[in-house]
Amino acid sequence: MRILLLVHGFNSLSQRLFVELRDDGHDVTVEFDINDGTLRKAVELFAPDVILAPFLKRAIPADVWQNHLCLIVHPGVIGDRGPSALDWAILEGKGNWGVTVLQAKAEMDAGPIWASETFPVRRASKSSIYRTELTEAALVAVRKAIAGIQTPEFTPRPLDYSAPDVTGRLREAMVQADRRIDWANDTSEDVLRKIHSSDGVPGVLSNIAGKSVFLHDARPAHGLTGTAGEVIATSGTAVCVGTKDGAIWIGHAREPKGEATFKLPTTRVLSGSLTEVPEIPIDAEQGYQEIAYSERGPVGTLRFDFYNGAMSSEQCARLLAAYEMALTRPTKVLMLAGGSDFWSNGIHLNIIEAADNAAEESWRNINAMDDLAEAIIRTESHLTIAAMGGNSGAGGVFLARACDLLWMRGPVIVNPHYKDMGNLYGSEFWTYLLPRHCGDEDAQRINQQRLPMAATEALSLGLADAVFAQSKVDFDAEVAKRADELANAPEYADRLRAKSDQRQADEQEKPLSAYRDEELSRMRRNFYGFDTSYHIARSDFVRKTKKSRTPVTLARHRDKSWQQTDRKAS
Ligand code: COA
Repeated sequence: MRILLLVHGFNSLSQRLFVELRDDGHDVTVEFDINDGTLRKAVELFAPDVILAPFLKRAIPADVWQNHLCLIVHPGVIGDRGPSALDWAILEGKGNWGVTVLQAKAEMDAGPIWASETFPVRRASKSSIYRTELTEAALVAVRKAIAGIQTPEFTPRPLDYSAPDVTGRLREAMVQADRRIDWANDTSEDVLRKIHSSDGVPGVLSNIAGKSVFLHDARPAHGLTGTAGEVIATSGTAVCVGTKDGAIWIGHAREPKGEATFKLPTTRVLSGSLTEVPEIPIDAEQGYQEIAYSERGPVGTLRFDFYNGAMSSEQCARLLAAYEMALTRPTKVLMLAGGSDFWSNGIHLNIIEAADNAAEESWRNINAMDDLAEAIIRTESHLTIAAMGGNSGAGGVFLARACDLLWMRGPVIVNPHYKDMGNLYGSEFWTYLLPRHCGDEDAQRINQQRLPMAATEALSLGLADAVFAQSKVDFDAEVAKRADELANAPEYADRLRAKSDQRQADEQEKPLSAYRDEELSRMRRNFYGFDTSYHIARSDFVRKTKKSRTPVTLARHRDKSWQQTDRKAS
C-alpha cells in the first residue's frame, strides 16, 4: 500500500510508524505539513492509497480529505476530541487511556472510526507516555486500520456518543489556568501530575524564587519537606520546592520571554534568584541523582537518566568518573543502562545554545563525550554492555556502540547519523566503531542515509548484537539474566583476552588517537569554520523552528530518481 505520512514534525511516533510500516512491506513517504500547496503537490506526485497523519497541528484541507482517504491518529479514547487529549488524561489521573484512528471529515476528530486501542497510564510525563505506551497502541491501531482498508467488507463506525464504549468527549485546548499549581493547597502528587501533564510542552508556568518560569522535569523529592512553594534546596542543576505534604525536584525550566526560551537546567534559569539555599550533594541519597550505580553479583550497572538523553560536558565528566569508579569494583561485566526514556542523544544542544561561546562549548562537550567513549573502548578489565531500552540519536548511538555488546529492546528506534544537525561530521569514534561492527559498505550507508532505524535493522547491520523484549520491564529482566550468564560463562576469560588482543591489534593498525584527531579536526571546522550550518541547525532545533521543507531522504516522492524508476514500477 502507498502510505503518505503527513506530519507537523518527524517525531518519535511518526518515526516508529515509518520504520514499521516499511517493514510491513508498504511504500511509505513523508511530507511535513508546511502548507496546503505542498500537501497537494505531494498527493499528486505520490498518489497515495492513504494519507496517514500521526502528528498534525491543523486540519487537512477539504479538497484533500474529500478526494483521498485521510486517517488521523488521535491520542485519545473513542469520542475524545480536541488538541490536549493526553494532557487532560494525565491531569485528571485517568488509569487507562487510548488512541484512535479516525477519518478526517469537516468536523475535527469526529470522523468515522477505523480502529482504537487502549493502554494503562503510567505515572510519568506526557512525553514519556507518548513515546512508550501511546506509540505501541498507535502502531497496533494503525495496523488494524490498514487491514480494514484492505478488507472490502470493512466499514468504519461512525462516532455515536450513545454507544457504551464511547467514553471520550469534546475537550477544550488546555490552558495554563487549568495546570496552575496552587502551592499552598496542592500535594506533591498534585504538583507532579500537573507538571507531568505538561512535559515536554508547554510546561507549567509558575512563580519560583520570585521569577515566573515554565517548569519541566519534575520528580518526587523523597524525605524532604519545606515551606510550600519555596525553594528549599538545590542539588546539581535541580531545585527542590516544598509542597503542602513534602517536596519535589524541578530539573529543568524555561523562561517565558527573551533569548533563551528553551529548556535549561533549573539552577541556571533561576541563577541570581537562589540565595542562601542549602545544597545537597548530587550523589547523596536525598540528592537529585541522575547517575546511579548498582551491583548484582558479578554485574555492575550504571544508569544515567539525563533529561531528554542530552549529555552536557559536566554530565559526561560525571559519568566518566562514575564509570572509572565502577571499573575498580570486583565485578566482571559492566552494563551501561542509559535512562528510562532515552539511552543517549549525544551532546547537549540546549546548553551549547545558551553558552556565551557556542563553538567553545560544543568543543568542550564533544571532547567530554569522546573521553567517555575512549574510556569504554579502552576498558580491558571488564566486558561492557550497552543495554538500550530507550531510543538513541547521533553520538548517543555510537557511545553505546563503544561497548563490547549492544543490546536493544524490540521497539527501540535509533538515529545513527549526525548530518541532520547542519552537516555535523560527528565523533565518538564512529569512524572506528561503525566499520568494525558493520563493515565498510554498511558503515558508509548508515552514515549517509539520515533515516531512523528499527532495532531489527540495527541488528541485521551489526550495529546491535541482540534485540529482545517488548516492554521495559521484560527488557530489564532479560538484560539482567543475560548479563549474569555472560559473567558466569566458562568462556568469559577467553572473551576478555580476545577483546584485549583485538584492541591491541587495532591499535597497531591505527591508533585510537588518530581516529579521534581526524574526527575532531572535522568537528572543529563544523564548530569554528566559516560554514555556520551547524549553528543555524542547532538554533532551529532547540527553538523548534517550523520546517520550511521536507528533506528528500524522507519525501521520496520528491526524489527525482524515485520519480523516474519506482513510481513507474508501482
Ligand atoms: N540536546 C538537547 N536536547 C535534545 C537533544 C540534544 N542532543 N536531543 C533531543 N533533545 C530534546 C528535544 O529538543 C526534545 O525536547 P522537548 O522535550 O522540548 O520536546 C526532546 O529531547 C525529545 O526529542 P525529539 O526530537 O522530540 O525526539 P524524537 O524521538 O522525535 O527524535 C532524535 C529523536 C534523536 C532524532 C532527535 O531528538 C534529534 O535529532 N536530536 C539531536 C541529536 C543530535 O544531533 N545530537 C548532537 C550530535 S551528537
